[in-house]
Amino acid sequence: MRLLVTGGAGFIGANFVQHVLAEHPSDEIVTLDALTYAGNLANLEAVLDDPRHRFVRGDIADRAAVDAALAGVDAVVNIAAESHVDRSIAGAEEFLRTNVVGTQVLLDAARAAGVRFLQVSTDEVYGSLGPSGAFTETSPLQPSSPYAASKAAADLLVLAAHHTHGIDAVITRCSNNYGPYQFPEKLIPLFITNALADEPLPLYGDGKNVRDWIHVDDHCRALDLVLRRGRAGAVYNVGGGNERRNEEIAATILAALGKPASLVRHVTDRPGHDRRYAIDATVVATELGFTPRRPFDEGIADTIAWYRTHASWWRDVKSGEYRAYYERMYGERLRAAAPGARPRA
Ligand code: NAD
Ligand code: TYD
Repeated sequence: MRLLVTGGAGFIGANFVQHVLAEHPSDEIVTLDALTYAGNLANLEAVLDDPRHRFVRGDIADRAAVDAALAGVDAVVNIAAESHVDRSIAGAEEFLRTNVVGTQVLLDAARAAGVRFLQVSTDEVYGSLGPSGAFTETSPLQPSSPYAASKAAADLLVLAAHHTHGIDAVITRCSNNYGPYQFPEKLIPLFITNALADEPLPLYGDGKNVRDWIHVDDHCRALDLVLRRGRAGAVYNVGGGNERRNEEIAATILAALGKPASLVRHVTDRPGHDRRYAIDATVVATELGFTPRRPFDEGIADTIAWYRTHASWWRDVKSGEYRAYYERMYGERLRAAAPGARPRA
């Protein structure tokens, strides 16, 4: 196959591009990525010289750039997005432009070219769960954050394009990923890199929010299967079957690195914070035979080892704009939570 992969210089995109080139020797890929703060060509270093791969810097909301990148491909895999909940709370506009308008531009271009479309979505479109139960593909869409709402809007546009225009589209909704090349604004890489640097770990609220974690390699295998064998018009939930409280993730990371529990700081909660996510992944298992392979204990140990041996990668990423972001997001919260700090009146 010849694929157009958008967002290929980000976390999941870079892992997916490398997965496809390794698993399918006759496939070719064009990566289209705007290289926002989250995009990093270093993530694609291993494949930049591969003759089966071509990198194009461009915006998915720019129809001319999309049409040029799409020439000659058989399918579009849309991984590009603004992806961080906290940034969407601070400002939602860019999320609508990329995640909603960008997806529609890609859909229009894919329809004109007559090619398959895989939309890489998230379980966050379903909102929050109580202590029991799990999201199925027919659970109502009840997004909590501007990020999740923009992803839900994109999903509805994809389904509408299939229904109205007959576009050959499929959607995946995956739980929280972890693994190499994840930007250190997300929980696991933020906590690993802060712990490595003996910096505090800012745990939101009571630390008992639950996420279902899947290694990015397993997510990439699921995307590959859905791309090649998924039913047009279908949605597939993908999960890792690893529910963990955030406080457990912090403790696991600190123990693995031999760092003290006192590095954890309970800071002011994220507004609108979803309590729990869990996935019912029966459909992708029964229809496509997908089950995750990487046990959490092994996957998290490998991930911690990766960040330990790739310190120059994350130190580069954590310089520049990131410092200002970190101060905006955590400066006041951490000062208020510092040992001995007086609670604010
Ligand atoms: P990321 O933020 O690491 O990477 C996003 C990439 O998209 C970056 O390379 C960025 O430069 C690029 N991009 C942003 N705006 C663009 C634009 N307008 N045009 C072209 N490229 C643009 O994100 P990620 O964590 O790899 O997530 C990728 C996708 O997977 C997102 O759609 C997200 O909703 C979905 N997803 C993520 C997770 C997770 O846990 N990370 C879980 C489920 C689904
Ligand atoms: P995150 O990695 O942002 O993913 P999402 O919100 O999309 O699930 O956050 C995962 C969980 O970790 C979520 O419950 C919020 C929490 N969290 C913290 O406690 N501290 C932090 O600094 C961050 C970034 C997240």
